[in-house]
Amino acid sequence: MKIAILNGSPKGNLSVTLQYILYIQKKFPHHEYKILNVAQQIKTLEKNQEKFEDIIEEIKTSDGVIWEFPLYVMLVSSQYKRFIELIFERNVEDAFKNKYASLICTSIHFYDHTAINYIHAISEDLEMKFVGHFSADMMDLMDEEQRKNLISFAEDFFSTIENKLVVSRRFPPLKSRDFEYNPSGILTNKEKININDKKILVLTDYTNEDANIAKMVKTLQKCFSDKIEVINIYDVDIKGGCLGCIQCGYDNQCVYKDKDGFTDFYHKKLRTADVYIYALTIKDRYFSSRLKTVWDRSFFNGHVPTVIGKQFGYIVSGPISQIPNLREIICAMIEISDCNLVDIITDEYYDSQTIDLMIYSLAKRLINYSNSNFINPGTYLAVGGKKIFRDAIYGRMRFVFQADHRYYEEHGLYDFPQDDEQAKKMNEMFIPLMEKDEKFRKAFYSRANTEMIKPLQSIVRDPKK
Ligand SMILES: Cc1cc2nc3c(=O)[nH]c(=O)nc-3n(C[C@H](O)[C@H](O)[C@H](O)COP(=O)(O)O)c2cc1C
Repeated sequence: MKIAILNGSPKGNLSVTLQYILYIQKKFPHHEYKILNVAQQIKTLEKNQEKFEDIIEEIKTSDGVIWEFPLYVMLVSSQYKRFIELIFERNVEDAFKNKYASLICTSIHFYDHTAINYIHAISEDLEMKFVGHFSADMMDLMDEEQRKNLISFAEDFFSTIENKLVVSRRFPPLKSRDFEYNPSGILTNKEKININDKKILVLTDYTNEDANIAKMVKTLQKCFSDKIEVINIYDVDIKGGCLGCIQCGYDNQCVYKDKDGFTDFYHKKLRTADVYIYALTIKDRYFSSRLKTVWDRSFFNGHVPTVIGKQFGYIVSGPISQIPNLREIICAMIEISDCNLVDIITDEYYDSQTIDLMIYSLAKRLINYSNSNFINPGTYLAVGGKKIFRDAIYGRMRFVFQADHRYYEEHGLYDFPQDDEQAKKMNEMFIPLMEKDEKFRKAFYSRANTEMIKPLQSIVRDPKK
């Protein structure tokens, strides 16, 4: 069988993830493997149609396709995302149709599931038969058990193809409506929203002034008493996507530093506002690869948040309610930075008048929340995610990401439970008593619920708090 490998690492042959493929190749040498470094070569593939068609030809003549990629900011790299966009833009979906597909990725398991969901759904949009995913920790290949797992995974993929087995579909196709938004005029007599001294930044990526999102941005601008800053990220000088070289790990200096305007843009614009409004259009099952480039390139800051305690709003054109995976990514990114997501509004259901009112309401609530400094407590998305970062930076990633380590130490982010003095005291006091004294244990559990709320009750009853 011929297996096409779509390598999504900007590092090409130096990819960690690729080693998993080479291991499979060693174990199943009778198959033909065609490794295609599509992320590393994205600029060539964009410019050179012939080279792009060569890749598509390899897909056409293969029996199975493996999406092989590293996690980049909860998804695939911007270069890989761009390759996926090219498939749709250049109408070559047919090459993928009915091919069996699987996915092998490496990461530290920080939002690997959102990247997997994305590629799984894209495969199904391409009418591929998606067999399964293998999400390895970067170094899993060193572990004998995981190597056995990988062999079983590959075996299943090959046998599914050979036996033409039938696999289930998980993601229904997206339905977009053909709707043109035009400002309704309902906001004409509305009081303008006073921005006081708040700095508002709108980031958008529209390429057509007549697009719904462009018109929605204009409506938003008119809601405020003063001029607000709108930046189209296509106007920012960005020479390319993150290369994954991790040289930024030591001192947060990006290798592109003086080669383009991104670092400057980041420090002067992207981290200086009080209120951020992203105005974006859905592209496949995410936003544009241009936006992904901005988010990937922001990785030069490592794993520390550089925008903390700010308000975020999203204005989206396209069927975001059908892509809960994307909503999760947005929520997670905001929560992990201890910021607050006020709302995500869209043009997917409503008429223009309702959209106008939603834009106005979003603008008003963003300012209100910014005035009161409200930050919603993080959910599992932030609490779980932060623990993965904390442990990795304290442990095995520290020598690479020394800048992160310094920040975590200085800002008290190493909140390990073994350092919780209060918990330690309680455990030392109660555990031996409960182990030794059955009467005490019974009494303890009979009063556990009443005792648990006592400190909370003291707050509720305190007239000063
Ligand atoms: C820009 C960038 C973003 C990353 N984002 C994530 C992430 O969101 N989740 C995660 O678990 N690992 C993340 N990683 C770690 C890589 O996924 C991991 O190192 C991977 O094994 C690299 O594979 P490769 O050598 O094949 O490129 C990121 C690395 C880089 C450089």
